[in-house]
Amino acid sequence: MKKFLDCTLLILFFAALASNFTSSTTHQIIGFAFLALVVAHNVLNRNFYKNYLRGNFNRRRIINHTTIFLFAIGILALTVSGAALADYFNAPQANWRSIHLGAAIFTTVLLFVHILIHASRYVKGKIFYATTILTFVLAVSAIFVLPYVDRWFHTVKINQNVLRGEKLNLDGKILIVYFSRVGNTNFPDKVDAVSGASLMLDDKKIIGNSQMIADLVQSIIGGDIFAIQTEKIYHADYGETVQIAKQEFSSGELPKLKNLPNVDAYDKIFLIYPLWWHTLPKPVENFLLNTNLTGKKIYPIVTHGGGGFGESIDAIKNSTQAEISAPLDIYSSDIPASREIILNWQKNS
Ligand SMILES: Cc1cc2nc3c(=O)[nH]c(=O)nc-3n(C[C@H](O)[C@H](O)[C@H](O)COP(=O)(O)O)c2cc1C
Repeated sequence: MKKFLDCTLLILFFAALASNFTSSTTHQIIGFAFLALVVAHNVLNRNFYKNYLRGNFNRRRIINHTTIFLFAIGILALTVSGAALADYFNAPQANWRSIHLGAAIFTTVLLFVHILIHASRYVKGKIFYATTILTFVLAVSAIFVLPYVDRWFHTVKINQNVLRGEKLNLDGKILIVYFSRVGNTNFPDKVDAVSGASLMLDDKKIIGNSQMIADLVQSIIGGDIFAIQTEKIYHADYGETVQIAKQEFSSGELPKLKNLPNVDAYDKIFLIYPLWWHTLPKPVENFLLNTNLTGKKIYPIVTHGGGGFGESIDAIKNSTQAEISAPLDIYSSDIPASREIILNWQKNS
């Protein structure tokens, strides 16, 4: 019975880790089932608590107790952050996704240690050392693989509520210019089939990361919005778009733009773009090269998958005469919590 329960727990744990490949409802059901079985696991192993203070506290026992204690904290963090993400309670604004991901990595590592400690009762000698190395490799993989999977296979979901909240009054007339894959790509109707690395769905609507930030900036400081649109249509497949952009960089091609805004009346330009190949997308470079922004101030915001500003700020400086303000970079998974980030950035600018 105990072994069957432990195997089921393990299977559920890994099924929960594969959350980027399952629907949110499935992930939540797996989470609930896992929690229920953790409780059952504790009931079946209640002797652990009964004998808690009996006997000697040797090194193995101390490590075991510490692991179980930390694992319990990890499960608690997973439960609270999971419930906040699923909107089960009116959670305060925080980056619950990062907390959930961090807790998942933390508990995965501890789970491997927990299993290893128990395995040491049954396997000895060379097999034990081999198991230890395997556990170590799996634990280290979890640290690197989980964020990687999260980065490339995760669709950031956002609720339009982020467009409501504190506002700021800035001097001068504001133009928000953005470039995004969405708006320059023909996506198939079945959006779930699209790689989620740069898309966000709100009620099944596709919104580009940079487009979402443009809407957010407008909801905070007002101003007009201009979307940079290329004449050419980018490929719906994420990997293909990455390759097309690579060719643009190697050939130096500046994709033709559908139109350019009249910027005469504006004082401040918020320039929002995704990081492409560690730098500024060629369509944005084309916009800067063909728009006279002399005497204006640019506020750059880059959305990215971990690369930060890359070399994009230098690329902006090389393409315009405008003054450049302190830029802001937003990691794609942080977008749902970015209202606060944008507000703080502007308050300190
Ligand atoms: C062609 C291409 C190249 C990219 N290159 C990088 C990169 O070098 N570093 C990085 O962190 N993210 C990179 N990304 C990820 C995007 O910067 C990130 O997903 C961004 O938020 C997408 O914004 P969008 O949805 O408005 O297009 C790239 C994405 C694409 C499509």
